[in-house]
Amino acid sequence: MSQPATVTIEPAILYFGTPVVLISTINEDGSSNLAPMSSAFWLGWRCILGLDASSKTTENLIRTGQCVLNLPSVNEVGAVDRIARTTGSDPIPDAKQMRGYTTEKRKWEASGLTQVASETVAPPRALECPVQLEAVLAAQNGFMADDPVWKVGIHVFEVRIQRVHVHPSLLMEGHDNRIDPDRWNPLIMSFQKFYGLAPGQVHPSTLGKIEEATYRSPDVDRARVL
Ligand SMILES: Cc1cc2nc3c(=O)[nH]c(=O)nc-3n(C[C@H](O)[C@H](O)[C@H](O)COP(=O)(O)O)c2cc1C
Repeated sequence: MSQPATVTIEPAILYFGTPVVLISTINEDGSSNLAPMSSAFWLGWRCILGLDASSKTTENLIRTGQCVLNLPSVNEVGAVDRIARTTGSDPIPDAKQMRGYTTEKRKWEASGLTQVASETVAPPRALECPVQLEAVLAAQNGFMADDPVWKVGIHVFEVRIQRVHVHPSLLMEGHDNRIDPDRWNPLIMSFQKFYGLAPGQVHPSTLGKIEEATYRSPDVDRARVL
C-alpha cells in the first residue's frame, strides 16, 4: 500500500486553528481595553494564554491580576476584525508599528460590543459574546527561554476562572451546568484567517462517554464563595 506523500516546509507560523478570545482588562486610568487573541487552551477552570509582552493587555494583566475572557461565536467576527491590528498601547511598540498597527484607546466603541459589569473582577464583560469568563491571574511563565532574543517577547499566563456566564441558548437540554457543543459555534483563527465549525459531530466520541462531572476541579467550589 502506498504511503501518503509529504513535503518538508518552513511556514513562518504554525497557527493550525484555535478559538478566538477577546480579553478585557483595566487600563491605568480606569477605562477598559479589549483585545483579540487565540493562543489559548483550557484545563479545568484554568486557561493558559500566550501574549505578546508589549501588549496593553499584558501590561494590564500583570498590574491588576484580572481579566475577562470573552469567547466570540462566528456571529461576532465583525467586532473582532474591527479591532484587529490595533493596540491600546501608545506609543505603538516597534514590532506592531512594522506590521501596520494603530493605537485605539476606545476599543469597545470601535468593536461595537457592549460592556456589562462583571461580578468578581473589575474588567467588564462583552454582552454579545455567548461565553464570558471572569478570571484572575494565577501564574506567569516565560516562553522561548532557550532563545536569547525572543525569550523576552512573549509571556505565558495561567488564569483561574471565577465566574462562567453563558447565553442560555448554549445550554444542553435538561442540564443547568452543561454547554451543548452542537449549540456552540466558536470563531476559529487559522493562519490569520477566520473560520467556523461545520455543524454536527463527524464521528461518535469514545472520550465523550466519560461523565463530564468527573473532570470538575476544586476551582468550581472556590469560585462559589466569591
Ligand atoms: C484573531 C486574532 C488572534 C490573535 N492572537 C494573538 C495571540 O494569541 N497572542 C497575542 O499576543 N496576540 C494575538 N493577536 C494580536 C493582538 O490582538 C495584538 O497584539 C493587539 O495589539 C493586542 O492589543 P493590546 O495591545 O491593546 O493588548 C491576535 C489578533 C487577532 C485579530
